Amino acid sequence: MTYLASRMSSVGASPTAAISDTLRRLAAEGKSVINLGEGELDFATPDHVCEAGIAAIRGGQTKYTAVSGTPALKEAIARKFARENDMAVPVSQIIAGAGAKQLIFNAFLATLDAGDEVLVPAPYWVSYPDMVSLAGGTPIIVPTGAETGWKLTPQALAGALGPRTKWVILNSPNNPTGAVYTAAEIQALGDVLADHTALIMADDIYEHMVHEVPFTAPATALPDLAERILTVNGVSKGYSMTGWRLGYATGPAWLISAMDILQSQNTSNPSTVSQAAAIAALDGDMSFVDGWRDSLRARRDRLVKAIGAIPGLATDVPPGAFYVFADCTGLIGTRRPDGTRIASDVDVAEYLVSDVHVGTVPGTAFGTPGYLRLAYAIDDVLLSEAIDRITAAVAKLEPASLVSS
Ligand SMILES: Cc1ncc(COP(=O)(O)O)c(C=O)c1O
Repeated sequence: MTYLASRMSSVGASPTAAISDTLRRLAAEGKSVINLGEGELDFATPDHVCEAGIAAIRGGQTKYTAVSGTPALKEAIARKFARENDMAVPVSQIIAGAGAKQLIFNAFLATLDAGDEVLVPAPYWVSYPDMVSLAGGTPIIVPTGAETGWKLTPQALAGALGPRTKWVILNSPNNPTGAVYTAAEIQALGDVLADHTALIMADDIYEHMVHEVPFTAPATALPDLAERILTVNGVSKGYSMTGWRLGYATGPAWLISAMDILQSQNTSNPSTVSQAAAIAALDGDMSFVDGWRDSLRARRDRLVKAIGAIPGLATDVPPGAFYVFADCTGLIGTRRPDGTRIASDVDVAEYLVSDVHVGTVPGTAFGTPGYLRLAYAIDDVLLSEAIDRITAAVAKLEPASLVSS
């Protein structure tokens, strides 16, 4: 008798699990660990947002709400889409959930049958392929490269679309590369998609974390395809509210309704307190984000410059999100001071954890071996310290050219 359902065999063990375990063990031993692996900002949730959450608790907003969120929240979300994305969205086509993650998962669960394919451009957010598999679909990984700025090209899209393609994922700004699609680039992809029936999953969660390239929502750039686009967003990244678990989505009425039914049978409404806080976030003054962006850009530039000076590492300047996706192939083939050969990006990440207690995520986790993702949304002092430690650790590696095989 096997107790675990067969669907569990479709979810792979995370390539980052060993690194996370080591980080936790080192921290428990009292070692000074610096984690550049986390996908969240170090900034506090803004005060006015926290106050709205506290007022909601004190005012008795502690009970169930409609599954898809309160009318007040959905109206605030509709105002946000109108104001920031030039999207006119009826409240009936909006759903709020426990994070963008839940909404993406429910969208797949609501639509995928065995044999249905989802195009996942790589590097991808780690959860997409597993979510597709858990929902019974087949993830089709479409590689992108540094030479196209880590962006899906119309040619690659056209080559990957097939009769069973049900979804195409567009994640801009991208986790892990920081790539941001321009309006023209989205329109060029839209031209290809216009001849197909696939749905488009627009994961806009890093919308506010852009520097050189302005953010364009796929739904804004492709109004003719609006009936096939699910726009997913949330307050996690833009307002530093990862722990509040509040995401939202808009799309065709039939899909939002199906996601509502699924949500009604698992979590019901997202936290009532978080909904009240999200209204304050969405309706409130956003000028604080300019300060966050300035600070993030300064950290990014420092990290990019430092990586450029470390032999064996290289990176372009990522225009969005808060990650640097650094090429570490120059370190593959080197040897650690203990003589162990570094054979992969996973080994590089493991070496940095064990030698200098700095956590990064290997590109393998995002479907793109040979890279490391370094999140720079951490305190300036810690970032400087992490840079010093990585520089020192790499300097101790015996270069590949000196290594006898
Ligand atoms: C690309 C991407 N989409 C979605 C999410 C999940 O966001 P949320 O906290 O709203 O569930 C993340 C979180 O890291 C992400 O990187």
